[in-house]
Amino acid sequence: MICPKCGAKLVCCEKTFRCENNHTYDRARQGYVNLMLGGNHGDSKEMVAARHRFLNADYYHLLKERLEEIVTRLQVRVLLDLGCGEGYYTSGMSRHVAECYGVDLSKDALKIASRMDKHTQYVVASIFRLPFEDESVDGITNIFAPAPVDECARVLKNRGIYIRVAPHRRHLYGLKKKLYDQVYENEMELIKDERFELIERVKVEDVIHIDDHDDIEALFMMTPYYWKSSKEAAHKVAEMESLDTEIAFDIQIYRKKDC
Ligand SMILES: C[S@@+](CC[C@H](N)C(=O)[O-])C[C@H]1O[C@@H](n2cnc3c(N)ncnc32)[C@H](O)[C@@H]1O
Ligand SMILES: [Zn+2]
Repeated sequence: MICPKCGAKLVCCEKTFRCENNHTYDRARQGYVNLMLGGNHGDSKEMVAARHRFLNADYYHLLKERLEEIVTRLQVRVLLDLGCGEGYYTSGMSRHVAECYGVDLSKDALKIASRMDKHTQYVVASIFRLPFEDESVDGITNIFAPAPVDECARVLKNRGIYIRVAPHRRHLYGLKKKLYDQVYENEMELIKDERFELIERVKVEDVIHIDDHDDIEALFMMTPYYWKSSKEAAHKVAEMESLDTEIAFDIQIYRKKDC
């Protein structure tokens, strides 16, 4: 990791990260370190709590297991999870790599993540300005979060792996059918950047049955529909006692080209 003030290497001594110019950053009680110079935002406490509840009930376990299989198979040694949230996927993958870092703007999310997963160093920072050296990591994951392609190209070693996860066409189709009269499939986009080549694409899909009302509310809150939907849609969610829905994820695996 590097110092966000001067760019010099950070060395960790007990509970403090320090650079050669004596800029210091303390590890919080839970274990994360805040390398954000300005104010930080990221997901709110409520969104974080909803996502933590839903993911920890393991409705998305197939995606978690598949990501663990992929980082193991591709022999990722140093992994960076960008926009890691509460570390549901990070904590699983960290067991299969030598060094693991999770980066997110949300302190509330990283408090939860670092309490549960001691093998990963969680860092409060913007994924668009990463406190990591050029060409220092060999794997990046970026799951349901904005795609900072320039920073990925900078911090990845040559031939490093960039794994991006986005919703597949029919992800949460059953939920959308209950909310809206007219339902559209999700659009899917690939990263088109000459520094990366797509080497593999994996679809993970399942049908889930949720019969806990609070889990349905939590799922709704962690989707974009929560912000975009009318009061009428929120009312429909409030009345739902069970839900069957398709889930589908698009895992895109890129390799940084030799330069
Ligand atoms: C939809 S959540 C996904 C969290 C996690 N990857 C997961 O799938 O459970 C998106 C995450 O990206 C974070 N985020 C959004 N913009 C960010 C930025 N510019 N820098 C760092 N984190 C960011 C949010 O705080 C949030 O935790
Ligand atoms: Zn410094």
